[in-house]
Amino acid sequence: GKSGYEHFMLKEIHEQPQALRQCLQERVDELSGRVDLGDDIANAVRNAGSIQLVACGTSYHAALYAAELFRSQGVPAQAFVASEYVTSPPPHSEDTLVVGITQSGETADTLSALRDAQRRGVETLAVTNVVGSTAARECEGVLYIRSGPEIGVAATKTFSAQVVAVNLIAAVLGNGDTKHEFVSALRDLPGQVQQVLDETNAEAVARQFVDSDAFFFIGRGYDYPVALEGALKMKEISYEHAEGFAAGELKHGPLALVTGNTPVFAVVTGETGSEKTVGNVKEVEARNAPVVAVTDGRTDVERYADEVLEVPAADPRLGPVLANVQLQLVSYHVAKQLARSIDKPRNLAKSVTVE
Ligand code: M6R
Repeated sequence: GKSGYEHFMLKEIHEQPQALRQCLQERVDELSGRVDLGDDIANAVRNAGSIQLVACGTSYHAALYAAELFRSQGVPAQAFVASEYVTSPPPHSEDTLVVGITQSGETADTLSALRDAQRRGVETLAVTNVVGSTAARECEGVLYIRSGPEIGVAATKTFSAQVVAVNLIAAVLGNGDTKHEFVSALRDLPGQVQQVLDETNAEAVARQFVDSDAFFFIGRGYDYPVALEGALKMKEISYEHAEGFAAGELKHGPLALVTGNTPVFAVVTGETGSEKTVGNVKEVEARNAPVVAVTDGRTDVERYADEVLEVPAADPRLGPVLANVQLQLVSYHVAKQLARSIDKPRNLAKSVTVE
């Protein structure tokens, strides 16, 4: 049941602290700073000379994030929309690893990309939620994200858990000297998500902007997949026009869409390039667009913002998870105020089993 929540989506948003704890359980040891995913996964990822990620929808946003994370560990990595991977398979080497990220483990496009890789002799690893799913059975390796069942069509807790899971893979990849610090940052994350859930003003922000013409989301670096995810969640459950952009791309075209009735959600966590995003925010503000800053207390961006969705300061790799929780809640409340069918949006299915 919905345990007293009005929708499964809201319940699942609130289950995130627990889902993340389950994902970390017995895999990270705070005392030694070690991450242990078992020998099979450790060998597969440590032997990988390059990594190709395949996924769809929300899981693709986790894949984009993962690619950036793996590159930061010195491993060439790239994310592909699964259907495009099949249409135009990229070259691989003997030591390429293909990682499929799929909550259900049953998405036809993703399965077909994984099978395509296997046919070419490439090793595959599934990052999935569903035990015994097709992806879990067919891939050489599997890492479960352990979120528990997700009923709402909109992926919420599973995105957060995917991001944590790929951080565990990255920790195994890198011979990280900062592992200790990072492990405690990971262990702090569930509590920080809880803090966001307890203190959020997302409902008020949703109320303020529910009648907008469109919703735009911008971010750079690790915040870029969150901008895409914020927009996907918004269009999926509210049926409102929403787009996510790399912050730097806004001025290359989309800026023409920006008006006084198109709020721009600027995701600004961590440090990397954030002063540039602040510059992009200024451009938007000069076009009279309302700005909602989703930030860990950066006063430079807050100065240009009409509203702020605050998140606790975290490791730069984890702040985006917290920002995303705020955006999940904004979408939820916009959809609720528009009386949409939140758990079963029109035209969509929880798992898409056709290509
Ligand atoms: O089960 P999967 O993670 O493979 O599903 C992929 C997409 O269909 C899925 O993430 C979809 O985009 C969600 N409805 C987004 O909320």
